Amino acid sequence: MQKSQGSIMPAGPLMKEHRLIERMIAVIKKETENLASGKELDVLFIKEAADFITTYADQCHHGKEEDILFRELAKKNISKEHSEIMNQLIAEHKYGRKTLKDLITAEDRYEKGDKKAKEEVLNCLKALVNFYPKHIEKEDKHFFLPCMDYFSSKEKDDMLEEFWEFDKTLIHKKYKIMVEQMEMLKKA
Ligand SMILES: [Fe+2]
Ligand SMILES: [Fe+2]
Repeated sequence: MQKSQGSIMPAGPLMKEHRLIERMIAVIKKETENLASGKELDVLFIKEAADFITTYADQCHHGKEEDILFRELAKKNISKEHSEIMNQLIAEHKYGRKTLKDLITAEDRYEKGDKKAKEEVLNCLKALVNFYPKHIEKEDKHFFLPCMDYFSSKEKDDMLEEFWEFDKTLIHKKYKIMVEQMEMLKKA
């Protein structure tokens, strides 16, 4: 198991996840530009992008930030500046979730024949492309690293351990929910 030898752990895994989110956002940005110049909506792409944001960016990544890092920071006597940033980050996660929900709803309407919903899908994609890089920059450059100083080596090791445990159970939760939903759908 990886231990917190350096001072940046457990900010390390969260920052590594940011790099993959950025790569996906770059792909979404390209598709957004194509859609804006008249390309047909690629329903499969939207579904895959929405699944990435739901499962990886929100449940896996924001999940560890909120349920573990922010929870532990809330127990510490953090500075006013860090407390304000943490509140902004929580509000931003909510905004990201709302935009994602709007995207899924608009895509569903488009798929059911409402071709005007393409504009709404496009606006949601643009909003996500605009949102994620700024949110990530705030965490990478102004929050994660200074916040590591609030924790002892033991606390950082414990947090990393909890991160791994969180990741380990996530895929099982995701597919359990999927099977339950399918059971419900097929019963109806
Ligand atoms: Fe975040
Ligand atoms: Fe993040």
